[in-house]
Amino acid sequence: MARLDRVISVEDARALARRTLPKSIFEFIDGGAVDELTLADNRSGFNRLRLVPRMMTDVSAPDLTMAIDGRTLPAPLAIAPMGSCMLAYPQADLAIARAAAARGLPYTLSTMSTTAIEDMARAVDGPLWFQLYPFRDYDFNFDLMRRAAGAGFETLVVTVDLKAAGKRERDARNAMSIPLRLTVRHLMEGMSRPGWAMRFLAGGKPDFANVRGYAGAADSGLTIAARAARDLDSAMTFDGIRRLRDAWKGPLHVKGVLDAAEAKALVEAGADGIWVSNHGGRQLDSAVASIDALPAIRAAVGPDVPLVIDSGVRRGMDIIKARAAGATISAVGRAAIYGVTAGEAGVGRVLDILLDEIRNGMMLAGTPDYRGIGADLLAPAAR
Ligand code: FNR
Repeated sequence: MARLDRVISVEDARALARRTLPKSIFEFIDGGAVDELTLADNRSGFNRLRLVPRMMTDVSAPDLTMAIDGRTLPAPLAIAPMGSCMLAYPQADLAIARAAAARGLPYTLSTMSTTAIEDMARAVDGPLWFQLYPFRDYDFNFDLMRRAAGAGFETLVVTVDLKAAGKRERDARNAMSIPLRLTVRHLMEGMSRPGWAMRFLAGGKPDFANVRGYAGAADSGLTIAARAARDLDSAMTFDGIRRLRDAWKGPLHVKGVLDAAEAKALVEAGADGIWVSNHGGRQLDSAVASIDALPAIRAAVGPDVPLVIDSGVRRGMDIIKARAAGATISAVGRAAIYGVTAGEAGVGRVLDILLDEIRNGMMLAGTPDYRGIGADLLAPAAR
């Protein structure tokens, strides 16, 4: 597709998303909480880091493979969970998952996806992880987990940073409700994006398939904050993690951790892995950037605990820097959803850009083996 030929970077895919989507929807995806300080730091944290390349190394066969949760991935990259993706493209969950699977990369299905757990497992032949927002009702949590395990999802990712919904002022100004209740404003915006509007209307009524059975789930028109406050377990502590741990046989990761002591305590409570994440700057504004929190978390949990980092990854070089700062692999959220505004091919384009950038960066840095990348690659000021 000619349009995609012109997408050379993730930022180009973002520009494509901006041109394709109505403003309210682009801002829901692209924006962050409050003053968007953390959103900005997620980028500047990566941008500040400098590397010391080595030249006297054979880099003719870069090896991007990485092991996590008993699997060897072809590259150190996963898709972070995202709800409401259908706002960007009909059946976006499936398009993103298929593009990831075609490259052997894990796809994390959100609790708030519009594709049901079972439908995703049937449609996709690749590593699948399931993300759980812990609800107040643990029987409901256990039911989702049973469904995910039964469908073959390998890793459970428990998101703990949505104790309350972030204050997303763009969404309030744009009258965004989840599920989307179309207002005159959205219809007007949609008229300037006819391609999107036709696809959206043909795509059928969006439905949060996994939580359909939850009491009150059918209420529409609630703000994101009201839904979260009503449904999610804001009282959760380590005991909640232990309960989920006891009920899940496979690897369990806790997502949304930024404190080193808490990461260590979570591992002691039974977590197999930690996602160092600030939810892409969408929750606590002024939260530390994931890349800045990472080294202390690696030091606290030791060398063997899987650490997935997300929030702000837009370049292959970010993924190399994250490895040098202690990550096992990186995950992308927005990069994938920008791409999906051009369907599965758009996601594929974005993933291939990132993979090419990792390969190219590793060769230029003189680190042909991803696993071997360590803190010595960082310029001394950044170590
Ligand atoms: C998210 N994120 C998210 N996280 C989660 O655990 N469950 C979810 O349902 C969602 N939904 C969601 C929707 C949208 C539109 C976005 C952009 C993000 C957060 C996501 O998993 C991840 O932490 C961030 O997106 C990572 O930051 P980048 O890569 O977007 O900068």
